[in-house]
Amino acid sequence: MLEGAMHSSILKRAQANGHVDICLSDIRNFARDKHRTVDDRPFGGGPGMVMKCEPLVEAIESTRGSGPQPGRVIYMTPEGQRFDQAKAIELSQVDHLIFVSGHYEGIDERVREGWIDEELSIGDYVLTNGTVAALVIIDAVVRLLPGVLGNEASPISDSFSEGILEGPQYTRPEEFRGKKIPDILLSGNHAAIEAWRREQAEKRTAERRKDLL
Ligand code: ADE
Repeated sequence: MLEGAMHSSILKRAQANGHVDICLSDIRNFARDKHRTVDDRPFGGGPGMVMKCEPLVEAIESTRGSGPQPGRVIYMTPEGQRFDQAKAIELSQVDHLIFVSGHYEGIDERVREGWIDEELSIGDYVLTNGTVAALVIIDAVVRLLPGVLGNEASPISDSFSEGILEGPQYTRPEEFRGKKIPDILLSGNHAAIEAWRREQAEKRTAERRKDLL
């Protein structure tokens, strides 16, 4: 699931240019039996499977390193704190992140207690596993690293970074199938354009996301 995403677009370029180093670790490589078992039935009964302690902890420990910055271990689960842009900014300042993605039935609680530093959710819905959720976070964090986006200013003017949504954007042609761009954008009056953009952004936020205001 992750290989394709790591080798395309901005994530690929960010790695090629040395802005970030991303390693994938398959927990099955740490299994101890020939079937490469990483989960088992829950004690006490019930549906689903639970990810076993040994392969998971060994996978975390092998990724963690023993230096002064062993890495922040983040477990992806719908029970975690909701991920948002503020959290993306915070994580973009951490040197080494380790994402643990499990089945949604979960991982053994002892691993959570002993090896997980933080739990994050990307929203109130349940995915088949945490891998896509980890990818969402990796993408949101990597694009904030200095130099990753060509235009240095763009992450700062993003939706959410200023606490509100972005307003409408237009590019050429000036008229498309009878639809013209707003006259103000052709006025050359930069202060007026800035004020208009701010007004549009606030209007959009009020219409769609009152909670942000
Ligand atoms: N794993 C399954 N669902 C998830 C979610 N919504 N967020 C993070 N990890 C998950």
